[in-house]
Amino acid sequence: MKKAFVTGITGQDGSYLAEFLLHKEYEVHGLIRRSSTFNTERIDHLYHDFHTPDTKLFLHYGDLSVSGQLMDLLHSIQPDEIYHLGAQSHVRVSFDMPEYTGDVTGLGTLRILEAIRKTGIKTKFYQASSSEMFGAASPPQSENTTFQPRSPYAAAKVYAYYIVQNYRDAYGLFATNGILFNHESPRRGETFVTRKITRAATQIKLGLKNKLFLGNLDAKRDWGFAGDFVEAMWLMLQQDKPDDFVIATGETHSVREFTEKVFSKLNLDYNKYVSVDPRYFRPTEVDILLGDASKAKKALGWKPKVTFDALIDMMIATDMELAKKEKTLLDAGFSCNNSERLT
Ligand SMILES: NC(=O)c1ccc[n+]([C@@H]2O[C@H](COP(=O)([O-])OP(=O)(O)OC[C@H]3O[C@@H](n4cnc5c(N)ncnc54)[C@H](OP(=O)(O)O)[C@@H]3O)[C@@H](O)[C@H]2O)c1
Repeated sequence: MKKAFVTGITGQDGSYLAEFLLHKEYEVHGLIRRSSTFNTERIDHLYHDFHTPDTKLFLHYGDLSVSGQLMDLLHSIQPDEIYHLGAQSHVRVSFDMPEYTGDVTGLGTLRILEAIRKTGIKTKFYQASSSEMFGAASPPQSENTTFQPRSPYAAAKVYAYYIVQNYRDAYGLFATNGILFNHESPRRGETFVTRKITRAATQIKLGLKNKLFLGNLDAKRDWGFAGDFVEAMWLMLQQDKPDDFVIATGETHSVREFTEKVFSKLNLDYNKYVSVDPRYFRPTEVDILLGDASKAKKALGWKPKVTFDALIDMMIATDMELAKKEKTLLDAGFSCNNSERLT
């Protein structure tokens, strides 16, 4: 039985990846942060008390800003594969917390690589690199495109990308960068724009809310489904040699188009409900991301399965159920928080 160690297991991608690996009979070890509220909602359906026989998912407290403990964990688990997904992953928030983002998103990768090097464990390492690294570069963007990062988040990811390549060259580690374009799902955090839109539109449909404030409606992104993208992460670690791969759908759509589509699927006119609030603008914007994943298609045999339309339908369906539950609670006299968030 193979063992995997997953940082960021409580996040969107971590939860899909944990499902995928458990299905493949891996023993999965996840790093989780101590929090005063529960932060394991996305993986609760996978977790069984560790006293249960045949348990294959184990969770360990830790933090990417602390190196010694990462070393102890890797030494005791001895994973065959490491999927490093943990990060301060919100681009807009990285402008508010640049130092923290550099520490966790940039140096966090170095801490794990150092833990691998110092413990001497034999393992394969996956780094969650990001299309945000391309920033202002002209589309389509591929493995050969020069990075032009436009945020503290993207700059931290560029550092992590190059330190992965350096540890591969300097120490012969099997270390791989997956340069993933945006990927969404019903499990996307609610402050990320796609989920913010599907959450608000379904609440508006049921009369729970009457306004949605967004930032730059003209930004264009290459949006895929997170469930498809985690398969690509796994495929990268099944290769004989480490390499770097772009993973994308090869389609780009504006935030306006996403919004218009979501509202019209609910028979609503988005113009009546959506307002632009400059508070959500980034100091430096990324206008267009459009990935060329032909290398991954050829070498990994990977291609996306879920279309843009099907992704939107999936997100609307889940958020409509959530909105219905909120409405039931409200109708029964309970309060429910649907106020605007900071991001
Ligand atoms: N989704 C995308 O479109 C996309 C595209 C390209 C690259 N990426 C990258 O892919 C990775 C996964 O993305 P995602 O969408 O799943 O992100 P996400 O939902 O925001 O999840 C981030 C994960 O990192 C954990 N984390 C944050 N700070 C940490 C720290 N100091 N120590 C330990 N864990 C920490 C979070 O834990 P809590 O649950 O406790 O907050 C969470 O589990 C990230 O590195 C992201 O930057 C994402």
